[in-house]
Amino acid sequence: MSEEMKVTVINHPLVQHKLTLMRQKETGTKDFRELLEEIAMLMTYEITRDFPLKEVEIETPVARCRSKVLAGKKVGVVPILRAGLGMLSGVLNMVPAARVGHIGLYRDPETLKPVEYYCKLPSDVEERTLIVVDPMLATGGSASAALQMIKDRGAKSITLMCLVAAPEGIKVINRDHPDIPVYVASVDERLNEKGYIVPGLGDAGDRIFGTL
Ligand code: PRP
Ligand code: URA
Repeated sequence: MSEEMKVTVINHPLVQHKLTLMRQKETGTKDFRELLEEIAMLMTYEITRDFPLKEVEIETPVARCRSKVLAGKKVGVVPILRAGLGMLSGVLNMVPAARVGHIGLYRDPETLKPVEYYCKLPSDVEERTLIVVDPMLATGGSASAALQMIKDRGAKSITLMCLVAAPEGIKVINRDHPDIPVYVASVDERLNEKGYIVPGLGDAGDRIFGTL
């Protein structure tokens, strides 16, 4: 019997349409980057829908009234370098006061294992809700290592937001980090022999930064 996956797929039509454009090999760097930013905004809108609110008293030009503001923990966004940077502006457009951490990891092309090279997080990381972003969840090695690095520095409330995932990667995150909610725009078929997601969209970092 196939293993259950714990993942939320954001099926919003705008997200799915834009993802199709991103997948196409003719889509150039400028459009790819813009589409990724737009999708990150839409996904942020979806994953923040349960954020708690509280009422405050304010004064409009017409009258005093009670109105709602966000009440929960402050937010932090953590892109996994490099490709995660492509989602950062989209999240910040929606949550402009968020602090930003960076995790540097690359996947060794031979072993497919993640290699760490950087980690700088907000100092009050344990008091924040963190959204970790990376467009690609392939073997899951990079995201799993990033989540562990963040937990080791005290973070308690973390969500993982990826664009395209392979079933293999989702299962690794579910196994290594059963406490972390995973949001994606698509669960693709599989990984190929080079560890690329099929059908995927190719190398996300190269397509974002034009380093193909
Ligand atoms: C890509 C991608 C993820 C990772 C996914 O990064 O952005 O971080 O691969 O693969 P995994 O799930 O098998 O670990 P890459 O290593 O190509 O680095 P880059 O973002 O700097 O291009
Ligand atoms: N990293 C990418 O950028 N693309 C894949 O398909 C797998 C890992």
